[in-house]
Amino acid sequence: MRKTAAILAGTVIVSAMASPALAPAGTVIPLSRRTSFTGAEGVFDKDRAIAATIATLNKHYHNLANFEKNTGTSVEVRAPAILPADVEERLNKRQSEALKDDQDREWTGTISVGTPKKNFVADFDTGSADTWIPSSSCNSIACSVKTKYNPASSSTSSKKPGTLFIQYADGSSISGPVYTDTVTIGGVTATNQVFSAVTTLSQDFLFESIDGLVGLALPPIAGLPSSLGTPFFLTAQAQHTVPVGQFAFYLAATGSELYLGGTDTKKYTGAIEFTGINTTTGFWQAMGGQAKVGGSVVLSGLQTIVDSGTTLMYCQPAATKAIYAKVPGSKVFDAKNGYYSYPCATPPQLSFNYGGKDWTVSAANFNLGTTTLRSKDCVGALLSLDMPFGPNTCLLGDVFMRNVYTVFDVDREAVGFASLA
Ligand SMILES: *[C@@H]1O[C@H](CO)[C@@H](O)[C@H](O)[C@H]1NC(C)=O
Repeated sequence: MRKTAAILAGTVIVSAMASPALAPAGTVIPLSRRTSFTGAEGVFDKDRAIAATIATLNKHYHNLANFEKNTGTSVEVRAPAILPADVEERLNKRQSEALKDDQDREWTGTISVGTPKKNFVADFDTGSADTWIPSSSCNSIACSVKTKYNPASSSTSSKKPGTLFIQYADGSSISGPVYTDTVTIGGVTATNQVFSAVTTLSQDFLFESIDGLVGLALPPIAGLPSSLGTPFFLTAQAQHTVPVGQFAFYLAATGSELYLGGTDTKKYTGAIEFTGINTTTGFWQAMGGQAKVGGSVVLSGLQTIVDSGTTLMYCQPAATKAIYAKVPGSKVFDAKNGYYSYPCATPPQLSFNYGGKDWTVSAANFNLGTTTLRSKDCVGALLSLDMPFGPNTCLLGDVFMRNVYTVFDVDREAVGFASLA
């Protein structure tokens, strides 16, 4: 088990840092629920799922471009994925018909920025590393419905050189100047936190309930320059406003939360099983994983990126094919978009294992809905996707995270899983 060395080294760092008297407590940030892709009468909502996959791909293209810039390691360059015109047209029609159509794709909570504090609704994304909020100078239509940051109204704001630029699914982008200011999430404050106040915001955001985003991944994939600071959680840790270098997600139908500075022992039982991450990548990428179906190993040597900003699970095409080959009655449902179906009556037991327990995706979480109205076949939440990661890399979004308590440990350089309470 290659994780051992990293964990031991991390433990030493933790005890060296512990300061008994003034250690701050960890803090709970309640999260709102993300919508599923199961539509009316239990049928799979394919258009929205396709849009989500394209957004996920583009986010990670952007991450890898940052990685190349930050590390000088060349990555495979790909053009942004584009939403098929027919899908876009149908989604736009639905949005204009029902503004209240629940479009949330994120786990959202409140952050505050500036002095005096101003509250923003943010997506907490372990799959990217930058923080951004809308600027008062933003004239995009999407900004009209957002809370905006006015640097002139914050006594602690400081303008920095440079711009943040991120490409989104529809080919549009966000961009804006860079600032530092005080950012508080729950009881945890980071002073002089670097972020972007974005002045252009693509139309996709008009229908999402978030103002901005807090990236909880690691510096190699940050777009904001490291000379100006680190991602939020690392800043808080360096400034000792969290007791330990851990944060954790509990994602459920109700009571979802992000815990900053440790773990919420009410939300899990038993030990947390830690697995070392691939520290070169900047992702929370657990190494040495196995994929199992029905308790039997199908794939070994997997690296799994745990990404709260992704809804579904994705493996590379060959790996996905190998997994579904072990699911009786499964078949390709949509080859172009990577979907497989399986008989609803006999859902597979898909698990990931890192040398200890099997972490299993429940039948309910695996099921994205029936392929068509009253079909006996259901769409599986594991998709085939040609991703610009290594051949043995899967991306595990919240259909996986909902089955476990997930701990992100900066000191151990590890991801931890525990059983839900
Ligand atoms: C870490 O990930 C990179 C990129 O996918 C890969 O090339 C490298 O082999 C991985 N390192 C380890 C130790 O697995």
